[in-house]
Amino acid sequence: MGSECETNRNYSEKNQRIMISIIVAIDKQNAIGRKNQLLWHLPADLKYFKEKTLGHPVIMGDKTFESIGRPLPNRRNIVVSLIKDYKVPEGVELYTDLGALLTKLKEESVAKEPHGVEVKKMTEVENEKGNKGEKKYESEREIGSEKERENEYFVIGGASVYRFAFDYADKLYITQIDAIAEDPDAFFPAIDPTLWDLYSVSEPQYDAANNITFRFLKYRRRK
Ligand SMILES: NC(=O)c1ccc[n+]([C@@H]2O[C@H](COP(=O)([O-])OP(=O)(O)OC[C@H]3O[C@@H](n4cnc5c(N)ncnc54)[C@H](OP(=O)(O)O)[C@@H]3O)[C@@H](O)[C@H]2O)c1
Repeated sequence: MGSECETNRNYSEKNQRIMISIIVAIDKQNAIGRKNQLLWHLPADLKYFKEKTLGHPVIMGDKTFESIGRPLPNRRNIVVSLIKDYKVPEGVELYTDLGALLTKLKEESVAKEPHGVEVKKMTEVENEKGNKGEKKYESEREIGSEKERENEYFVIGGASVYRFAFDYADKLYITQIDAIAEDPDAFFPAIDPTLWDLYSVSEPQYDAANNITFRFLKYRRRK
């Protein structure tokens, strides 16, 4: 009995569309980390991360889990590691095959509307001098139905897990940092605009402590 219940719990209920999202902060060269740490401490980004992921399952590599140092509260914590006897605290789920996990999630997902409801598109607007050309985004409606968001799984890093999960992802939440990090050793894959539709860009956020600006971008996979 135990294993059957476990399977259902682990992979969500059948007949519900599951969305796989990636959330990451990248610099201008797609760097994401150094010495198993984030590149900058950006409280507004951490707040954004919390807002987006709260209540959703989060999938992370063992190194990112160690870097965070504890299970993320109020989220189902799924850690992937190739080390079969990797030790995780009680309540944290361990998988040794990320491909099998993501494939299973996709298989159990019934895509009634592949990318959810319509999203308002980027529009060209006039800037203050009356010149056209500045790209702005209208207020967006989220992609995905309520059901999809209920079943949104977040891949939260790090580099090797992002690389692997990239092909499975439906949506990307990118914090684009307008700076170049010193000596990074972990990177996010290039985002190919022919495969990914940038549908939302936030106003610039300024972090005074680091003297850097960043924006929250959202992409959906083109079909
Ligand atoms: N900027 C951000 O938003 C952000 C977010 C998260 C993390 N990070 C940064 O990313 C860096 C860590 O990245 P990382 O690549 O070193 O570590 P990681 O992705 O967190 O963890 C890597 C672990 O996942 C395992 N793994 C990879 N593919 C797998 C698969 N298909 N199935 C099962 N296990 C698999 C790896 O095995 P192998 O070692 O054998 O490959 C390794 O044990 C840190 O600097 C961290 O701060 C940045």
